Amino acid sequence: MSALLELNAISLKLQSMDHPILSDIHYRVLPHDFIIVLGSNGSGKSSLLKLMDQRYTASSGKIFLHGKSIEKFSNQDFSKKIITLTQNCHDSLFVSLTVLDNYLLVKQRHESKIFSIRQRKEREFFANYLQEFNPNLSLKLDQVVEKLSGGEKQALALALSVLYPPEILLLDEHTSALDPKSAQQLMALTHRVVTDHKITCILTTHDLDIAMQYGNRILALKHGKIFKCYDHSEKNALSQTELLAGCY
Ligand SMILES: Nc1ncnc2c1ncn2[C@@H]1O[C@H](COP(=O)(O)OP(=O)(O)OP(=O)(O)O)[C@@H](O)[C@H]1O
Ligand SMILES: [Mg+2]
Repeated sequence: MSALLELNAISLKLQSMDHPILSDIHYRVLPHDFIIVLGSNGSGKSSLLKLMDQRYTASSGKIFLHGKSIEKFSNQDFSKKIITLTQNCHDSLFVSLTVLDNYLLVKQRHESKIFSIRQRKEREFFANYLQEFNPNLSLKLDQVVEKLSGGEKQALALALSVLYPPEILLLDEHTSALDPKSAQQLMALTHRVVTDHKITCILTTHDLDIAMQYGNRILALKHGKIFKCYDHSEKNALSQTELLAGCY
């Protein structure tokens, strides 16, 4: 099968640093993969995702999306294909605006048109759309985002990220700031929406329960290099103890 995203001999070194953050990364992401990225603090997981969505530029090597080098896509086209959610909702939401304003801005950006907050059908559509993500949010369209709970903010960020489903969703510890129950709910929701919309997903986590329960493949990093890869059948055969011993 041809790769959706291909990392070819990628290294990342920032000017001020002696050692590269990432080196010699070769990896192929296939359509509909759900890849779990593991590794200790500082092993390079977030940096890897930042290379994939072009927040960082590789010092050497190339990344291809559908066989085309990612820097050759227009910004507008690329930003519709790959969306990132992190643990920090400030990365994807305007927290001083209301829930509905955030929706209208996403819609405006995507469709390059202005939508009025007064349009009743927009309110109705979004309230209805949010039901699936968090029924409470449907009742808080006029609430300023910074007053929502952490779980509500992340559910809203997820809802908006798949309003116009991207091809690839990058999730950088997007459940890590939540309490265990909210984290579990958000993970189940994430799994449902990526499956429904056939979105390819790459998720970093320190939570081995999540790593065991979700995803079809595992990629473990150590000191900026690929340390271990498990394919689907290898992952299924692993115990949590073996996963811990094998990836860290
Ligand atoms: N912009 C930057 N400036 C300086 N150092 C950086 C920068 N980005 C990443 N690094 C360094 O690169 C290394 C990898 O960082 P990265 O955030 O990718 O790790 P991580 O695996 O995501 O860690 P964590 O599990 O703590 O989130 C760290 O040593 C970090 O300090
Ligand atoms: Mg990180």
